Amino acid sequence: MGLGFLPSLLFLALFFRSLASQQPNTDGSYVRDFLEGMGGPAPALSEPGGALPPVCSWEWATCDADGENVVALAATGLGLSGNIPENTLGKLIKLQDLDLSRNSITGISSDFWGLGSSLRSLNFSRNRLNGSLPNNVGNFGKLESLDLSHNDLSGEIPTTIGSLSGLRFLNLRGNMFEGRIPGGLLGCRSLVTLDISSNRLIGGFPDGFGAGFRNLTSLDLSGNMISGRLLNFSGLESMGYLNLSGNQIQGSVMGVFQGPLQLIDLSSNQLQGHISQVTSNSSFNWSGLVYLDLSRNHLSGEFFPNLNEAHSLKHLDLAGNRFSPQKFPSIAYLTSLEYLNLSGTGLTGKIPAEISRLVSLTTLDLSRNRLTGSIPQLSTRDLGVIDLSVNNLTGEIPLPLLQRLPSMQRFNFSYNNLTLCAARFSPETYRAAFFGSQNDCPIAANPDLLPKTKKTHGGLKLVLAIALSAFFLLVGLVCLALGCRRRTRLWAVKQLSYKEEQTISGPFSFQTDSTTWVADVKVATSVPVVIFEKPLLNFTFADLLAATSHFDRGTLLAEGRFGPVYRGFLPGGIHVAVKVLVLGSTCTDLEAAREFERLGRIKHPNLVPLTGYCLAGEQRIAIYEYMENGNLQNLLHDLPLGIQATEDWSNDTWEEDNDGVQSITSEGQTTWRFRHKIALGTARALAYLHHGCFPQIVHRDVKASSIYIDSAFEPRLSDFGLSKVVGGSLEEEITRGSAGYTPPEFSEAENYSATPKSDVYGFGVVLFELVTGKKPLGDEYPGEKDANLVSWVRGLVKKNESSSAIDPKILETGSERQMEEALRIGYLCTAELPSKRPSMQQVVGLLKDVEPIADQ
Ligand SMILES: *[C@@H]1O[C@H](CO)[C@@H](O)[C@H](O)[C@H]1NC(C)=O
Ligand SMILES: *[C@@H]1O[C@H](CO)[C@@H](O)[C@H](O)[C@H]1NC(C)=O
Ligand SMILES: *[C@@H]1O[C@H](CO)[C@@H](O)[C@H](O)[C@H]1NC(C)=O
Ligand SMILES: *[C@@H]1O[C@H](CO)[C@@H](O)[C@H](O)[C@H]1NC(C)=O
Ligand SMILES: *[C@@H]1O[C@H](CO)[C@@H](O)[C@H](O)[C@H]1NC(C)=O
Ligand SMILES: *[C@@H]1O[C@H](CO)[C@@H](O)[C@H](O)[C@H]1NC(C)=O
Ligand SMILES: *[C@@H]1O[C@H](CO)[C@@H](O)[C@H](O)[C@H]1NC(C)=O
Ligand SMILES: *[C@@H]1O[C@H](CO)[C@@H](O)[C@H](O)[C@H]1NC(C)=O
Ligand SMILES: *[C@@H]1O[C@H](CO)[C@@H](O)[C@H](O)[C@H]1NC(C)=O
Ligand SMILES: *[C@@H]1O[C@H](CO)[C@@H](O)[C@H](O)[C@H]1NC(C)=O
Ligand SMILES: *[C@@H]1O[C@H](CO)[C@@H](O)[C@H](O)[C@H]1NC(C)=O
Repeated sequence: MGLGFLPSLLFLALFFRSLASQQPNTDGSYVRDFLEGMGGPAPALSEPGGALPPVCSWEWATCDADGENVVALAATGLGLSGNIPENTLGKLIKLQDLDLSRNSITGISSDFWGLGSSLRSLNFSRNRLNGSLPNNVGNFGKLESLDLSHNDLSGEIPTTIGSLSGLRFLNLRGNMFEGRIPGGLLGCRSLVTLDISSNRLIGGFPDGFGAGFRNLTSLDLSGNMISGRLLNFSGLESMGYLNLSGNQIQGSVMGVFQGPLQLIDLSSNQLQGHISQVTSNSSFNWSGLVYLDLSRNHLSGEFFPNLNEAHSLKHLDLAGNRFSPQKFPSIAYLTSLEYLNLSGTGLTGKIPAEISRLVSLTTLDLSRNRLTGSIPQLSTRDLGVIDLSVNNLTGEIPLPLLQRLPSMQRFNFSYNNLTLCAARFSPETYRAAFFGSQNDCPIAANPDLLPKTKKTHGGLKLVLAIALSAFFLLVGLVCLALGCRRRTRLWAVKQLSYKEEQTISGPFSFQTDSTTWVADVKVATSVPVVIFEKPLLNFTFADLLAATSHFDRGTLLAEGRFGPVYRGFLPGGIHVAVKVLVLGSTCTDLEAAREFERLGRIKHPNLVPLTGYCLAGEQRIAIYEYMENGNLQNLLHDLPLGIQATEDWSNDTWEEDNDGVQSITSEGQTTWRFRHKIALGTARALAYLHHGCFPQIVHRDVKASSIYIDSAFEPRLSDFGLSKVVGGSLEEEITRGSAGYTPPEFSEAENYSATPKSDVYGFGVVLFELVTGKKPLGDEYPGEKDANLVSWVRGLVKKNESSSAIDPKILETGSERQMEEALRIGYLCTAELPSKRPSMQQVVGLLKDVEPIADQ
């Protein structure tokens, strides 16, 4: 709108210049007086006497062949207001088409009705016409199109409207018309479209209403208070669109389905009777039906047997009726279906597996039935809403669906008997959509099966937490506005009971299998947690305690060389991995904070982002975005042994099968394409650290367990730059790298410091792992004793036998030549002499040369 505004102002200025020059009592002068009288832009803009074109040359107005009379005028959206003055439009004796829509016109002059002999189309849509529609409307005998929608018209619809026998389009939507549908309306025999929706009509349909409109294709009477029995629409042979939703229509639906109906919306009425009657007495062509909504009526019986013939059906809503208990209907052929709502339709038994054929499904609501059995595979490609709540479903949610949930708009599995292992959702989500506990393996169960106290407590806490977040967000915004960005913490002192509850004092001591660590803080709420992207949320160590259940072993993800890593949800559902750098540090708090801030700014699609940090006494705590799919170490070496069910996802993927239905295969990660993707992504991350950061960052600990797999199965390198934060005594040890990944130069020299080339060596080892599937140390390396991965593969490459090193699991999944080439790249990376190793930038280039093409 903003763009069009200026030109139209200029245009108006010119227009008025021209109008001012119109002779009195010509169509030009009537149009000028009309615009002037309706508060159009000021006529003072005009320069009298200029040689300007007459009204006919302007694009709003169209004149007849003589150039004398205006036949069409379209003055839409000009801000015209008030009543149309006498002696203006009413004098345009040849006017046929008048469009004054989108103004603020409140009334019509009495001479306006004189236009009756000429007017063919009249559009007053979106104005402020009020009062009742005068009987004079019947004067417009030639009218074909009348649009009075979205005004404030009230009173009854005048019966005289029936004299408009040529009227094809009538729209009275969005007014306050009351009374009954006038029987006179039947006089409008030519109607093609009739819309009187969103008014206050009452009573039943006039006699003969159904049969009267032979040519009607679209009837919308929704959103009134029409009562009485449903019509016999069998006379309406052309009708394609029927919307009677939101009325009080009673009776059976018998005979409704006639002709070429494509859209039927009878929702929210009081229709009764057996639903199958809708077709039993007519030969309805199901194959044309696109939209069927019979929801929220009182229909009974069982579904139509021929539903499955509705191949074009996109929207089916039968929810909220009084159907008999029945089996899930046959829907295997409704492959166009996008919206399916069978909530509260008495369904029993299992959800049929054929539901997976509904590949276009975006919304599925089967809630409030008595469905049993497990949830079958669904096509999740477009699914945005799923509600299976209040049934008796058991078993686990199928993996593709589970994986899809985080990106869905809404899902609800509450009040079932589902087990939900291996899923990670925020506690809020569990409470809302899986009604149950916050355990790792909660049960979305009938509430009677669960302890009650937990729920109310949790709920209260949640409400408080939300209220508090909102409060502090507001405070923060005010602060921001006042320019006191960094002072927000002062306000935080006033934190309320939720925080007080947690005003627990330390020092806190925590144990893991291999270490004990202490956070020497006095008051947990006084130690800030910095979250870079959400500086206004004042998280504290108390939130970290809450997020990790007091650093409970149950939330322990791993124990790395820096210390334990925990998993948790910060308020607001921020899913994080919390890494405690246990081994102390020699740098000051300020230095550590500065280093964290610097690392927080380093962003790359193949790096695990540092989300924030906390300095808790001596402990430096790094907070990372949580990586859904574990690390490469798990993926390559741990999982086949079945370490942890929760990491199992990383072993699975889903692919489209012939029907386009997604199904799980456990092979997704054991393809050359995937392995190559990991290698290339990791190389990119390292190249970025080495060549794209200033000062340069040497990772110092490149290994499979530093490479994480995110929710999109992209590799992300973690733990970069931490050695600086840890500093001191540990630095040396870190520098040495991890066993199996240490370059030869480290064992030779006493004080060899890590360089980009030592990272390249570590990467070379990872590359060998990716192609061979073997561990760097302690695996079986056929044909060699006391070997390690590097010496074994290097030996084979030298002998030109590298193909025998390729992981048999991926051998068939791609080009053997590419895999051999990748081993040669690893060979270069693991060169004895650091100077012989390529740079990571070069490695990226080399790896790109052996990239499998998309469909390999
Ligand atoms: C009347 O004007 C409105 C708004 O400009 C437009 O949306 C509508 O299609 C018009 N009605 C007819 C029948 O052309
Ligand atoms: C129509 O609106 C005008 C001005 O807004 C008001 O004075 C008048 O009373 C209204 N008429 C009816 C019938 O509501
Ligand atoms: C219905 O439409 C047909 C074809 O468009 C036309 O010939 C006929 O006159 C119309 N009937 C009425 C009652 O307007
Ligand atoms: C509906 O009306 C038609 C005639 O227009 C008639 O033949 C038919 O029997 C009626 N159906 C019902 C269910 O009343
Ligand atoms: C029927 O009318 C209601 C209310 O005006 C509207 O919400 C609904 O979308 C309409 N149905 C169809 C199929 O257009
Ligand atoms: C409709 O069909 C049922 C049987 O299917 C029959 O009993 C009823 O009389 C029929 N109604 C009309 C109006 O034909
Ligand atoms: C039903 O409708 C479809 C398309 O809407 C059409 O192709 C088909 O011929 C119709 N069948 C009958 C029996 O009228
Ligand atoms: C399904 O229908 C019920 C009853 O009309 C309604 O409450 C619910 O919101 C609908 N579900 C979806 C997903 O639209
Ligand atoms: C679910 O199953 C239980 C036990 O079989 C039964 O008691 C309960 O009524 C069922 N609930 C529903 C909604 O069918
Ligand atoms: C819930 O499901 C489990 C098996 O998954 C079954 O043992 C248990 O009886 C079920 N409970 C109810 C109330 O149906
Ligand atoms: C899920 O359904 C249950 C039962 O109808 C309801 O109480 C709960 O609020 C719903 N949750 C969501 C997130 O829609």
